[in-house]
Amino acid sequence: MKFPILAYGHPNLRKVAKDISPDYPGLQQLIDDMFEAMYESSGVGLAAPQIDRSIRLFVIDAEPFIELDKNMSEAEKEQLKGKKVFINAQILEETGDKWAFTEGCLSIPGINEDVTRHSKIKIKYFDRNFNLHTEEIDGLLARVIQHEYDHLDGILFTDRLSSLKKRLLKRKLENISKGKVNVDYRMKFPKK
Ligand code: NI
Repeated sequence: MKFPILAYGHPNLRKVAKDISPDYPGLQQLIDDMFEAMYESSGVGLAAPQIDRSIRLFVIDAEPFIELDKNMSEAEKEQLKGKKVFINAQILEETGDKWAFTEGCLSIPGINEDVTRHSKIKIKYFDRNFNLHTEEIDGLLARVIQHEYDHLDGILFTDRLSSLKKRLLKRKLENISKGKVNVDYRMKFPKK
């Protein structure tokens, strides 16, 4: 892993990230390094702000989620397979019923909580070759995209919990900021 992952409490996780152009220096290498870091830390998604780059880039490989749901349709399995790169993404619409799913985040190790979000999104983005795509996505892939997309706007999944839940997690979150947490990948703790 070439770079540490910023832990909860780091101010750079709260910045609104900026769009990039196709000539962004070292972009292809950066994307490869992000996938490597994501796999090494057993994540299904990683956003550039989490590695201290305030740019609108995130990577996803949600294949491990296929194991979660024995009744998953073949179409959804196909959708979850493979490496996906999202550059300068814009979520154009969020529709469908709201549903709860237990989320986690590489910046917030050891905390997993139910987050409620819309089930379907319409998204416009560039892939790693800067080809433009506009797609409607639902199910677990939409969920992972919504989580990673939030990182670009400085939002963490814990922000979306009830105020009661937030109060209950306060101490645990502070401990993460201080590095008082068991984690088996490299992190940068703001209060350590
Ligand atoms: Ni995250």
